[in-house]
Amino acid sequence: MVKFKQNIRGNVALGVNPLGCKQAVLNQIDYVKSKGTYEGPKKVLIIGASSSYGLATRVSLAFGAGADTIGISYEKGPKSEKSLGTAGWYNNIAFREAAEKEGLTAKNFVQDAFSHETKQEVIDYIKNDFGGKIDLVVYSLASGRRTDPDTGETYYSSIKAIEEPVVGPNINMQKQTYYTETLDPATDQEIADTIKVMGGEDWELWMKALKEADVLADGVLTTNYSYLGTELNQPYYGHGTLGRAKADCDDKADNINELLTDINGKAQIVVATAVTTKASSVIPFFPVYCIGLYKVMDEKGTHETPIMHMDRIYREMIYGDKAEYDEVGRLRPDSWELDSDTQAKTKELIQKLNEDNFNSELTAYDIFYKEFSNLSGFMVDNYVDQEVSLEELKALEF
Ligand code: NAI
Repeated sequence: MVKFKQNIRGNVALGVNPLGCKQAVLNQIDYVKSKGTYEGPKKVLIIGASSSYGLATRVSLAFGAGADTIGISYEKGPKSEKSLGTAGWYNNIAFREAAEKEGLTAKNFVQDAFSHETKQEVIDYIKNDFGGKIDLVVYSLASGRRTDPDTGETYYSSIKAIEEPVVGPNINMQKQTYYTETLDPATDQEIADTIKVMGGEDWELWMKALKEADVLADGVLTTNYSYLGTELNQPYYGHGTLGRAKADCDDKADNINELLTDINGKAQIVVATAVTTKASSVIPFFPVYCIGLYKVMDEKGTHETPIMHMDRIYREMIYGDKAEYDEVGRLRPDSWELDSDTQAKTKELIQKLNEDNFNSELTAYDIFYKEFSNLSGFMVDNYVDQEVSLEELKALEF
């Protein structure tokens, strides 16, 4: 029988508990079901569907709105007891099993979303097997690299400041330490490459390919998750390389809006709240912001996990009547995070932190660590220890 061991290097999770991942997906499904159903899209394509925001979106739309879904992700399956694969691999399987039990279509593509081949295969599937055109395309990719499908050149994103270095505190969950880190400014090449990977180019390529193939329904909506943050993280996020990539998504949304005019479609940037994910845990300084922010929001009753946030966005905002937009038309569910009292208290709290108290009742380190562990199937609520063999894990199909 396989032994599951939580194994963290820095702020990256290496170990996985496949059965814990399954329970975490079931918990998300229960959360959505507890809220009842809502009227939403019926045929959804989610690019980046296997974890955090993309997965939460899929769970909300399938179990809340009864949507058939296609999910694309890049994950690894089990090879040996030491190499059990990635959490997203098992999330895909758990999602599909649960959705199919309810009579929903849940098709997984586990391959590179940036390639032309994947786009073509997904289009062929929509035309031949999915049973209808797409009424919502969700773009929720987070990646450190992208191979340009035309040139074959691979670009790497960097999480860096721009112009000035940034010095600040960070935490290391492996060593449970609090330390000072310096983030160097990016070169022009690094800025351009980060935009190439995390900007909106691939989103636009997807929308062009889907439109050309005539697989988008009249009135189609496409969403893309952005982050703007606040004064507290501007130097390393908004004014850094990632901020530039997000600004590029805003520009590409304009192009996509033009592209979709004749089918009454819309591209919507959704400025989402800060949450604990595989991608966000490795943003320098960001975990310190989170342990302060979550403490304040938890006390106010406004702290959300990805499933809570995404379910609210689709159920209450996009397909409900509580949408809040900013002056340039972006959806702003992050208003709870940006609330001025929340930010003032977060700032005050973060200023008090040091290596002795960062992991105390003063902060939400415990919440952050638990949410981080949950991502790879550890510390999951309602999880009961079970036995499984490597062969059984290998036999699971996505
Ligand atoms: P994540 O790392 O949990 O998920 C990324 C997804 O992309 C996974 O499904 C992964 O398999 C997939 N993926 C990566 N490379 C791929 C490839 N080449 N082909 C196919 N699939 C690939 O990331 P997270 O945090 O959920 O981020 C999703 C989006 O939400 C990003 O645009 C991020 O900037 C945005 N966002 C995140 C916030 C946060 O606090 N985590 C806040 C606001 C926005």
